[in-house]
Amino acid sequence: MAITILAIESSCDETAAAISVDGKIMSNIIAGQAVHEKYGGVVPELASRAHMQNIVPVVDQAIKDAFNIGSEKLPPAILEKIDAIAFTQAPGLIGCLLVGAQFAKSLALSLNKPLIAVHHMQAHVLANLIPENRPSFPFLCLTVSGGHTQIVLAKSPLDLEVIGQTIDDAAGEAFDKTAKLLGLPYPGGPLIDKYAALGNPLKFKFAEPQIPELNFSFSGLKTSVLYFLQKQSPEFIQANQNDLCASVQYTIVQILLKKIKKAVQQTGVNQVCIAGGVSANSGLRNGLTEMGEKHGWKTFIPAFEYCTDNAAMIAITAHYKYLAADFAQLDINPSARAEFER
Ligand code: KG4
Ligand code: ZN
Repeated sequence: MAITILAIESSCDETAAAISVDGKIMSNIIAGQAVHEKYGGVVPELASRAHMQNIVPVVDQAIKDAFNIGSEKLPPAILEKIDAIAFTQAPGLIGCLLVGAQFAKSLALSLNKPLIAVHHMQAHVLANLIPENRPSFPFLCLTVSGGHTQIVLAKSPLDLEVIGQTIDDAAGEAFDKTAKLLGLPYPGGPLIDKYAALGNPLKFKFAEPQIPELNFSFSGLKTSVLYFLQKQSPEFIQANQNDLCASVQYTIVQILLKKIKKAVQQTGVNQVCIAGGVSANSGLRNGLTEMGEKHGWKTFIPAFEYCTDNAAMIAITAHYKYLAADFAQLDINPSARAEFER
């Protein structure tokens, strides 16, 4: 019998819900939160409140889309088709996680269905299993988001090992913080990407850190950009915006690609995926594809909608957890920080 999962993601500033049937994504709804823009970053309290407002309509729409329901009201019998309710349990902003967790627990209790707790970073990696053209195990995944930068060795869906990570800022933070220095609004990553397409990536040189093993550091880059900009006039920065964005992006992408190359050499695994919000970056996508062609690796790049935070990745992870009968109790709590599950 087909396994149908309703998945909910609410770890940061996207309220998302998705339905999967046998690991195939049938719907994927995301509500963003424009409220944070004017603060230059996500305001946790406002994010939790927005999740409270969004979660019912988002889940409602995900169910309607998946089962082609045109009516205003959900027929109650449709909920019987759901075999399990999954939610993001960690890591994330605690107030935000609580909204999704509480909603999922209540639904699981009222429908008498099993509950599945999902680790957000594991889900980013497994987003690569959504398309038909997917990697086989083992594969490497560079997970680059606003909060994390990791190289993961995926041995099976539920056996992921972090073999490298950032010792300070995440790659997404490096994009967002340098964008802020350039006077761009939050989140600056996608804007750097946009302007970089029009600029010269080799015009300005910024510090590349020398960090051992497969670990990363981005705080030096941010300082290097800051010191450079402090010496320039606002007119210069304005006139060189595209080249500055292209050069910053180039530096970040080079840092990431060099470590991925090292990871392939160390592990002998040459199937390489990317995941997380920064994997939407065109410089990284193109750079990885080129590098893969040059070295004979198989590279996998998820569709944009599965790169940034979404519930489809929670659903696919929950699907594997369902197969392993890995269910959560109804008294489970979300947690802001949590080690990667093994
Ligand atoms: O995975 P995600 O949606 O949320 C977290 O779990 O953090 O990642 C968000 C991060 C932000 O830092 C955002 O600026 C960055 O991903 N991002 C990008 C692009 N799209 C999103 N960074 C560079 N280029 C992009 N196109
Ligand atoms: Zn994320």
